[in-house]
Amino acid sequence: MAEVTIRGVKKHFGEVKALDGIDLKIEDGKFVVLLGPSGCGKTTLLRCMSGLEKVTEGKVLFGEKDVTGYAPKDRNVSMVFQSYAVWPHMKVYSNIAYPMKIKKFDKQEIEKRALDTAKLLGISELLDRYPVQLSGGQRQRVAVARAIVLEPAVLMMDEPLSNLDALLRVLMRSELKKLQERLGTTTVYVTHDQVEAMTMGDLIAVMKDGIIQQYGRPEDIYHRPANKFIAGFIGSPQMNFINVEVKRKEGKMCLIAPGIEVECTRENEQKIDRGKHKRLIMGIRPENIHHVAGREATPIEGKVYFTERLGAETIVHLKVGDMRIISKIAGDEIFEEDKEMNMYVDTSRIRLFDPESERSILD
Ligand SMILES: Nc1ncnc2c1ncn2[C@@H]1O[C@H](COP(=O)(O)OP(=O)(O)O)[C@@H](O)[C@H]1O
Ligand SMILES: [Mg+2]
Repeated sequence: MAEVTIRGVKKHFGEVKALDGIDLKIEDGKFVVLLGPSGCGKTTLLRCMSGLEKVTEGKVLFGEKDVTGYAPKDRNVSMVFQSYAVWPHMKVYSNIAYPMKIKKFDKQEIEKRALDTAKLLGISELLDRYPVQLSGGQRQRVAVARAIVLEPAVLMMDEPLSNLDALLRVLMRSELKKLQERLGTTTVYVTHDQVEAMTMGDLIAVMKDGIIQQYGRPEDIYHRPANKFIAGFIGSPQMNFINVEVKRKEGKMCLIAPGIEVECTRENEQKIDRGKHKRLIMGIRPENIHHVAGREATPIEGKVYFTERLGAETIVHLKVGDMRIISKIAGDEIFEEDKEMNMYVDTSRIRLFDPESERSILD
């Protein structure tokens, strides 16, 4: 097991700055997710950690040891990829045993570990089959078994569930998470799927354009996103972003847009610099716009434009002035189109971003 430290890492492919200065500390035993859109550098960062890719600049440390120049085989890491990298000509048992054979473990040890690991992943019944006789999910379990059988210091997974169907993905999500908790192996997990990141990570590093935008616990990333990009990337439906003017009305600081007038909470009021913040971007998640008045609630006047009834929840698209505001409500409700209605913004949940830098002004 190991702590991994990335210090000032850059990786350039010619003109492309795949990594543009990464600092990251992954504590021993943690499950850390690298999350971001396609092309943001997740795979490259993972490959730099594993040694499959040489860094252009910066350092990679495992514990205190500088492993920057080490080959993958000298780093004691294992990787699981999106494509099930199992050997088709070997039965499941041999696939799991193979890494130990290479390392010249004795026969008894190989057998014991292979059987134990297969049991851990629930594939004991499949040991005599060839990969072609397995489902996608079973094959991916074999790949995971093979990756953990050597008890690596760091387990790295690159979108390992992307090829599975939706139902299996949900199942494997919880299984991988529980497996990691049981093993306590430091794990770095790459995904572009925000739900995977939120549900599996102890910590999430959100990436964009080769830079880490925010590193924190899932709840912090969700409730206190550091900038508009992160706020928009996480959460479904997406957070509503509304350009507002900051004005004082009857001694109260208000956020105003056509059809919207929201009073600032005291806490937020203290963060607003009246000289600088004449305009802001107000962010409010759909689930924080309710259709019954609450304590910390300010009304929005709108017209129902479209309703998505999902059974357990209802997503209401409202036309407010020229804007489309989306609200998510628990339960199955019918809202007539074009009906005028008030929705209520939970002002304690509002996020505020600077229009130029798009950074949050609240933290
Ligand atoms: N071997 C390579 N040669 C040239 N460009 C590359 C190479 N690998 C990755 N890139 C570029 O680096 C950027 C980051 O890629 P990658 O790390 O694969 O992103 P992600 O895994 O987040 O989708 C992309 O612009 C990609 O095109
Ligand atoms: Mg990738």
